[in-house]
Amino acid sequence: MSTHHHLGLGIDIGGSGIKGAPVDLHKGRLAAERVRIPTPQPSTPEAVAGTVKEILDEFDWNGPFGCTFPAVVQHGVTRTAANVDERWIDCDAAAVLRRVTGRDALVVNDADAAGVAEAEFGAAGVGDGVVLVVTLGTGIGSALINHGHLVPNTEFGHLEIDGFDAESRAADSARERDDLDWEQWGERLTRYFTHVENLLWPDLIVVGGGVSKKFEKWSPHVHTRTRMVPAGLLNEAGIIGAALLAHR
Ligand code: BGC
Repeated sequence: MSTHHHLGLGIDIGGSGIKGAPVDLHKGRLAAERVRIPTPQPSTPEAVAGTVKEILDEFDWNGPFGCTFPAVVQHGVTRTAANVDERWIDCDAAAVLRRVTGRDALVVNDADAAGVAEAEFGAAGVGDGVVLVVTLGTGIGSALINHGHLVPNTEFGHLEIDGFDAESRAADSARERDDLDWEQWGERLTRYFTHVENLLWPDLIVVGGGVSKKFEKWSPHVHTRTRMVPAGLLNEAGIIGAALLAHR
Protein backbone atom coordinates (compact mmCIF):
# COMPACT_ATOMS: atom_id res chain seq x y z
CA MET A 1 0.00 0.00 0.00
CA SER A 2 2.90 2.36 0.67
CA THR A 3 3.64 2.59 -3.05
CA HIS A 4 0.92 5.19 -3.70
CA HIS A 5 2.38 8.59 -2.85
CA HIS A 6 -1.00 10.16 -2.06
CA LEU A 7 -1.49 7.57 0.67
CA GLY A 8 -0.24 7.86 4.23
CA LEU A 9 -0.88 5.86 7.35
CA GLY A 10 -2.05 7.23 10.67
CA ILE A 11 -2.33 5.60 14.07
CA ASP A 12 -4.22 7.12 16.99
CA ILE A 13 -3.07 5.88 20.40
CA GLY A 14 -5.69 6.38 23.10
CA GLY A 15 -6.07 5.30 26.70
CA SER A 16 -8.59 2.60 25.77
CA GLY A 17 -8.05 1.86 22.08
CA ILE A 18 -5.39 2.06 19.37
CA LYS A 19 -6.82 2.82 15.93
CA GLY A 20 -5.20 3.04 12.56
CA ALA A 21 -5.93 3.29 8.86
CA PRO A 22 -4.39 4.29 5.55
CA VAL A 23 -5.29 7.89 4.71
CA ASP A 24 -5.94 9.55 1.38
CA LEU A 25 -3.77 12.65 1.81
CA HIS A 26 -5.42 14.55 -1.03
CA LYS A 27 -8.97 14.06 0.13
CA GLY A 28 -8.25 14.07 3.86
CA ARG A 29 -10.16 10.92 4.59
CA LEU A 30 -9.57 7.29 5.46
CA ALA A 31 -8.70 5.14 2.46
CA ALA A 32 -9.86 1.93 4.15
CA GLU A 33 -11.91 0.95 7.15
CA ARG A 34 -9.91 1.57 10.30
CA VAL A 35 -8.66 -1.18 12.59
CA ARG A 36 -9.12 -0.80 16.35
CA ILE A 37 -7.33 -2.88 18.99
CA PRO A 38 -7.84 -2.32 22.75
CA THR A 39 -4.87 -0.58 24.38
CA PRO A 40 -2.78 -3.18 26.25
CA GLN A 41 -2.84 -2.86 30.03
CA PRO A 42 -0.49 -1.82 31.48
CA SER A 43 0.05 0.52 28.53
CA THR A 44 3.84 0.40 28.56
CA PRO A 45 5.83 1.75 25.59
CA GLU A 46 6.88 -1.77 24.51
CA ALA A 47 3.36 -3.19 24.70
CA VAL A 48 1.75 -0.26 22.89
CA ALA A 49 4.42 -0.31 20.17
CA GLY A 50 3.66 -4.01 19.69
CA THR A 51 0.00 -3.18 19.04
CA VAL A 52 1.00 -0.43 16.62
CA LYS A 53 3.07 -3.02 14.73
CA GLU A 54 0.03 -5.32 14.50
CA ILE A 55 -1.98 -2.55 12.86
CA LEU A 56 0.81 -1.73 10.38
CA ASP A 57 1.10 -5.42 9.51
CA GLU A 58 -2.66 -5.66 9.06
CA PHE A 59 -2.47 -3.05 6.28
CA ASP A 60 0.82 -4.39 4.95
CA TRP A 61 2.23 -0.89 5.47
CA ASN A 62 6.03 -0.71 5.37
CA GLY A 63 6.69 3.00 4.94
CA PRO A 64 6.93 5.83 7.47
CA PHE A 65 3.77 6.48 9.47
CA GLY A 66 2.30 9.09 11.79
CA CYS A 67 1.26 8.28 15.30
CA THR A 68 -0.65 10.30 17.88
CA PHE A 69 -0.06 10.08 21.59
CA PRO A 70 -2.40 11.32 24.36
CA ALA A 71 0.23 13.46 26.12
CA VAL A 72 2.87 16.13 25.49
CA VAL A 73 5.27 15.13 22.68
CA GLN A 74 8.38 17.21 22.08
CA HIS A 75 10.45 16.17 19.07
CA GLY A 76 9.48 12.50 19.36
CA VAL A 77 9.90 12.35 23.14
CA THR A 78 6.77 11.87 25.26
CA ARG A 79 6.90 14.17 28.30
CA THR A 80 3.75 13.49 30.30
CA ALA A 81 1.35 10.56 30.74
CA ALA A 82 -1.98 11.68 32.20
CA ASN A 83 -4.03 8.67 31.05
CA VAL A 84 -1.35 6.12 30.10
CA ASP A 85 1.43 4.19 31.85
CA GLU A 86 3.95 6.51 33.50
CA ARG A 87 6.87 4.75 31.81
CA TRP A 88 6.09 7.02 28.83
CA ILE A 89 7.38 10.05 30.70
CA ASP A 90 10.61 11.20 29.00
CA CYS A 91 10.52 8.15 26.74
CA ASP A 92 11.97 8.45 23.22
CA ALA A 93 8.71 7.24 21.73
CA ALA A 94 9.84 7.65 18.12
CA ALA A 95 12.87 5.43 18.83
CA VAL A 96 10.81 2.74 20.60
CA LEU A 97 8.29 2.69 17.74
CA ARG A 98 11.06 2.47 15.17
CA ARG A 99 12.78 -0.40 17.00
CA VAL A 100 9.60 -2.42 17.62
CA THR A 101 7.82 -1.80 14.31
CA GLY A 102 10.80 -1.52 11.97
CA ARG A 103 9.28 1.61 10.37
CA ASP A 104 9.94 5.33 10.88
CA ALA A 105 7.39 7.05 13.09
CA LEU A 106 6.45 10.69 13.47
CA VAL A 107 4.90 11.10 16.93
CA VAL A 108 2.54 13.96 17.73
CA ASN A 109 0.12 14.93 20.49
CA ASP A 110 -3.37 13.57 19.69
CA ALA A 111 -5.21 16.89 19.88
CA ASP A 112 -2.51 18.62 17.81
CA ALA A 113 -2.91 15.97 15.11
CA ALA A 114 -6.67 16.49 15.18
CA GLY A 115 -6.15 20.26 14.98
CA VAL A 116 -3.88 19.99 11.94
CA ALA A 117 -6.42 17.77 10.17
CA GLU A 118 -9.30 20.11 11.05
CA ALA A 119 -7.28 23.07 9.74
CA GLU A 120 -6.49 21.28 6.49
CA PHE A 121 -9.74 19.44 5.77
CA GLY A 122 -12.25 20.10 8.50
CA ALA A 123 -13.98 22.83 10.47
CA ALA A 124 -11.01 25.16 11.19
CA GLY A 125 -10.30 27.22 8.08
CA VAL A 126 -7.44 29.67 7.58
CA GLY A 127 -10.02 32.45 7.43
CA ASP A 128 -11.26 31.59 10.90
CA GLY A 129 -8.34 33.36 12.60
CA VAL A 130 -7.47 31.98 16.03
CA VAL A 131 -9.09 28.56 16.37
CA LEU A 132 -9.09 26.43 19.48
CA VAL A 133 -9.69 22.75 18.79
CA VAL A 134 -10.74 20.89 21.93
CA THR A 135 -11.12 17.11 22.05
CA LEU A 136 -13.44 15.65 24.70
CA GLY A 137 -12.68 12.03 25.52
CA THR A 138 -10.93 10.24 28.37
CA GLY A 139 -9.09 13.52 28.89
CA ILE A 140 -9.42 16.98 27.36
CA GLY A 141 -6.97 17.76 24.57
CA SER A 142 -6.34 21.12 22.94
CA ALA A 143 -4.78 22.47 19.76
CA LEU A 144 -4.30 26.17 19.15
CA ILE A 145 -4.24 27.24 15.51
CA ASN A 146 -3.57 30.76 14.34
CA HIS A 147 -4.48 31.33 10.68
CA GLY A 148 -3.67 27.71 9.89
CA HIS A 149 -0.48 27.49 12.00
CA LEU A 150 -0.35 25.18 15.00
CA VAL A 151 1.19 26.15 18.34
CA PRO A 152 2.07 22.63 19.58
CA ASN A 153 1.55 21.08 23.01
CA THR A 154 -0.96 23.44 24.57
CA GLU A 155 -2.45 21.58 27.55
CA PHE A 156 -5.69 23.42 28.21
CA GLY A 157 -7.32 20.26 29.54
CA HIS A 158 -5.23 20.69 32.66
CA LEU A 159 -6.27 24.20 33.65
CA GLU A 160 -7.18 24.27 37.32
CA ILE A 161 -10.80 25.36 37.64
CA ASP A 162 -12.65 25.54 40.99
CA GLY A 163 -9.75 23.64 42.54
CA PHE A 164 -9.96 20.72 40.09
CA ASP A 165 -7.91 19.59 37.12
CA ALA A 166 -10.39 20.67 34.42
CA GLU A 167 -10.47 17.36 32.53
CA SER A 168 -11.36 15.45 35.70
CA ARG A 169 -14.68 17.39 35.77
CA ALA A 170 -15.50 18.17 32.15
CA ALA A 171 -14.06 15.38 29.96
CA ASP A 172 -16.46 12.88 28.42
CA SER A 173 -15.11 10.29 30.89
CA ALA A 174 -16.28 12.54 33.76
CA ARG A 175 -19.76 12.65 32.21
CA GLU A 176 -19.84 8.86 32.13
CA ARG A 177 -18.28 8.39 35.57
CA ASP A 178 -20.68 10.83 37.25
CA ASP A 179 -23.64 9.65 35.16
CA LEU A 180 -24.48 13.20 34.02
CA ASP A 181 -27.28 13.98 31.59
CA TRP A 182 -26.55 16.35 28.68
CA GLU A 183 -27.76 19.37 30.62
CA GLN A 184 -25.65 18.63 33.70
CA TRP A 185 -22.59 18.00 31.58
CA GLY A 186 -23.40 21.16 29.62
CA GLU A 187 -23.12 23.18 32.84
CA ARG A 188 -19.64 21.82 33.44
CA LEU A 189 -18.66 22.49 29.84
CA THR A 190 -19.98 26.04 30.09
CA ARG A 191 -17.82 26.61 33.17
CA TYR A 192 -14.83 25.13 31.34
CA PHE A 193 -15.21 26.89 27.99
CA THR A 194 -16.03 30.24 29.62
CA HIS A 195 -12.75 30.07 31.52
CA VAL A 196 -10.80 29.11 28.41
CA GLU A 197 -12.36 31.77 26.18
CA ASN A 198 -11.66 34.46 28.78
CA LEU A 199 -7.97 33.53 28.69
CA LEU A 200 -7.55 33.03 24.93
CA TRP A 201 -10.29 34.92 23.13
CA PRO A 202 -10.35 32.56 20.14
CA ASP A 203 -12.46 33.35 17.06
CA LEU A 204 -13.81 29.82 16.86
CA ILE A 205 -13.94 26.71 19.03
CA VAL A 206 -14.00 23.33 17.24
CA VAL A 207 -15.02 20.38 19.42
CA GLY A 208 -13.73 16.92 18.56
CA GLY A 209 -13.56 13.52 20.23
CA GLY A 210 -16.13 10.71 20.09
CA VAL A 211 -18.86 12.91 21.54
CA SER A 212 -18.61 15.38 18.64
CA LYS A 213 -21.02 12.99 16.86
CA LYS A 214 -23.68 13.97 19.41
CA PHE A 215 -23.01 17.72 19.19
CA GLU A 216 -26.68 18.63 18.77
CA LYS A 217 -27.56 16.85 22.03
CA TRP A 218 -25.23 18.68 24.39
CA SER A 219 -24.25 21.92 22.63
CA PRO A 220 -27.61 23.67 23.34
CA HIS A 221 -26.63 23.43 27.02
CA VAL A 222 -23.24 25.07 26.52
CA HIS A 223 -23.20 28.86 26.59
CA THR A 224 -20.13 30.64 25.25
CA ARG A 225 -19.57 33.94 23.51
CA THR A 226 -17.30 32.20 21.01
CA ARG A 227 -18.89 30.39 18.08
CA MET A 228 -18.62 26.64 18.63
CA VAL A 229 -18.87 23.95 15.95
CA PRO A 230 -18.35 20.16 15.89
CA ALA A 231 -15.19 18.77 14.33
CA GLY A 232 -15.61 18.29 10.58
CA LEU A 233 -13.72 15.00 10.66
CA LEU A 234 -15.37 13.77 13.85
CA ASN A 235 -13.25 11.18 15.62
CA GLU A 236 -11.09 10.41 12.58
CA ALA A 237 -9.14 13.67 12.76
CA GLY A 238 -6.28 12.20 14.83
CA ILE A 239 -5.54 9.45 12.31
CA ILE A 240 -5.74 11.86 9.37
CA GLY A 241 -3.59 14.53 11.03
CA ALA A 242 -0.92 12.03 12.06
CA ALA A 243 -0.67 10.65 8.51
CA LEU A 244 -0.51 14.18 7.12
CA LEU A 245 2.28 15.29 9.47
CA ALA A 246 4.34 12.16 8.77
CA HIS A 247 4.06 12.83 5.06
CA ARG A 248 5.26 16.42 5.45
C1 BGC B 1 -3.24 15.13 27.94
C2 BGC B 1 -3.14 15.79 26.58
C3 BGC B 1 -4.02 15.03 25.59
C4 BGC B 1 -5.44 14.92 26.11
C5 BGC B 1 -6.35 14.13 25.21
C6 BGC B 1 -4.70 15.06 28.35
O1 BGC B 1 -4.81 14.43 29.60
O2 BGC B 1 -2.51 15.85 28.90
O3 BGC B 1 -1.80 15.80 26.14
O4 BGC B 1 -4.02 15.71 24.36
O5 BGC B 1 -5.45 14.32 27.40
O6 BGC B 1 -5.92 12.82 25.08
